[in-house]
Amino acid sequence: MNSNAPVIQTDNLTKTYFKNRTETITALKGLSFSVQPGEIFGYLGPNGAGKTTTIRLLLDLIRPTAGKATIFGLDAQQNSVELHKRIGFLPGELNLWKNLTGAQVVNYIGKIRGGVDMNSVRSLTERLELDLSLRIRSYSTGNKRKLGIVLAMMNKPELLILDEPTSGLDPLMQQTFNELMLEAQKQGQTVFLSSHMLGEVQTICDRVGILRGGELKAVETVSNLTHANFRWVTLRLREPVAASQLSTLDGVSDVSAVDGGYKLRLSGDFDPLLRAIAPYYVQDVAVAEPTLEEIFLSFYGNNGQTQKEERIS
Ligand SMILES: Nc1ncnc2c1ncn2[C@@H]1O[C@H](COP(=O)(O)OP(=O)(O)OP(=O)(O)O)[C@@H](O)[C@H]1O
Ligand SMILES: [Mg+2]
Repeated sequence: MNSNAPVIQTDNLTKTYFKNRTETITALKGLSFSVQPGEIFGYLGPNGAGKTTTIRLLLDLIRPTAGKATIFGLDAQQNSVELHKRIGFLPGELNLWKNLTGAQVVNYIGKIRGGVDMNSVRSLTERLELDLSLRIRSYSTGNKRKLGIVLAMMNKPELLILDEPTSGLDPLMQQTFNELMLEAQKQGQTVFLSSHMLGEVQTICDRVGILRGGELKAVETVSNLTHANFRWVTLRLREPVAASQLSTLDGVSDVSAVDGGYKLRLSGDFDPLLRAIAPYYVQDVAVAEPTLEEIFLSFYGNNGQTQKEERIS
């Protein structure tokens, strides 16, 4: 395989579920994207967007209605047995044998995979502060998640596919998780992880894909995403100006009064705003990038949706 070929590629991947006997729901609509070798790719979307569906399709746990996925250049359906050996997978819901201890689960899964790298397990459990001697039933939600991360990572697979790995982890553990991902990347592993909290993964992802209603709305580098969107502008003018005068301008919305001036949301060019305020004495203009959380949320609202889609196309 060409070393620059994508690790994951989907082509028009589509999945329709039966809601009941008569009704269907299309959870994924013509999804096409690729993940490059050595990349940390964040797959982001709100509840029900289709993240888990995509991951199940990649792992051949469910079958597509149309389209296909390839991993390492191999068809995800036809080569799933071989591919599973090369992928570390963390499911969104980890159903483990409740009566076994963490160590027993690690051994059992390790044996199925042809061996356990005990050094790797030790290092992961130490860093994640996970006690493997306890029974699964006594694990908290966060501890189950940590065990899932150990299971996915312990054999140092070429590709990690992680469904909401950070959900349930406290901020300190999220930090440890981020470090583990960056180290995995340094060792040449590729990471595909889903989340609905952009803020949780923005520091480690090279690119993020934003999914909503089964459609990929954007695939961007984290830095592009920050720049390609809107800005918050705070204006301080010496004479009072009616807010309505600002809110009708092209690209301006969400005008609110802040102490001694106005804060507004600006998308597109500055020119209409600058022309409008030119007759006034401008004391101060401050421009702030939105947080990625705000950008992310702008994909959900109708307002943000139209603006963003216009800008992406
Ligand atoms: N087995 C199923 N049968 C019917 N509908 C399903 C099934 N699995 C998922 N769905 C529907 O498909 C859509 C996508 O679900 P999916 O679980 O992929 O979303 P998600 O992005 O992982 O959400 P979350 O953030 O809540 O985990 C949802 O509308 C969901 O109700
Ligand atoms: Mg999910």
